[in-house]
Amino acid sequence: MLVSAKEMLVTARKGKYAVGQFNINNLEWTKAILLTAQENNSPVILGVSEGAGKYMGGFKTVVGMTNGLIEELNITVPVALHLDHGSYDGALKAMEAGFSSVMFDGSHYDIKENITKTKEIIDIAHARELSVEAEVGSIGGEEDGVVGAGEIADASECKAIAELGVDMLAAGIGNIHGKYPENWAGLNFEALGNIQDATGNMPLVLHGGTGIPEDMIKEAISLGVAKINVNTECQLTFAAATRKYFEAGKDLEGKGFDPRKILAPGFEAIKATVKEKMELFGSVNKA
Ligand code: G3H
Ligand code: ZN
Repeated sequence: MLVSAKEMLVTARKGKYAVGQFNINNLEWTKAILLTAQENNSPVILGVSEGAGKYMGGFKTVVGMTNGLIEELNITVPVALHLDHGSYDGALKAMEAGFSSVMFDGSHYDIKENITKTKEIIDIAHARELSVEAEVGSIGGEEDGVVGAGEIADASECKAIAELGVDMLAAGIGNIHGKYPENWAGLNFEALGNIQDATGNMPLVLHGGTGIPEDMIKEAISLGVAKINVNTECQLTFAAATRKYFEAGKDLEGKGFDPRKILAPGFEAIKATVKEKMELFGSVNKA
């Protein structure tokens, strides 16, 4: 059964670890992430961008596929199905379709409008016991058409959003979607510390989890980060494993052209990446 992300994140924040949000694209991604969570006894959040949702056929298909896998693979660890960087309408549609958690990304609005719209989404979500993530400042780079300027979040604006009763807060602290450039300045821990002071026990969310060095991940968790989003890294390891399969000519041997065989190395690569992240984030055996 899908659960809201609230309880798992409050527990993670208290226990000084983070729950991974891994974005899904299809059946293989979803199955690989669910099985890895179960094998490692870890809570998990499946992230779905609006683009990935459309690619999979629509939000209802995503909900049906995820619920089916949870039941038939006997997944018993807590699983939240979460809309990633959702628009206002996207958040409403995801809730209607059966998502257990939504991100309303109002970071491109001015703070007044971000507050108004976030509050409306919180009221609708909480009436159904679903969790809500909001964003202040912005994440640099681009993810599935969502482009951010990489603006560092203002602590007093974070406080205003936290006071609305949001369940988790994504704050821009120099993090970037996709691969980090060579000259990246790193996470801004001074800003993160100020945001933590301003927002009390609010579980903070670190986007752009691909390629952040281990010591920075650990410091971020020590400053209140309880959810870390990873997307690009699974795509990179999937692509590398699939390329290796073709370059070795495996598709030409026997029944190597069977799609289930072609997708198997990438599937295993996603599992290995997710396991590595769960170990780094400290969520193993926390289900
Ligand atoms: O919202 C999703 C994440 O922030 C993923 O970022 O693709 O850099 O891992 P990433
Ligand atoms: Zn993100």
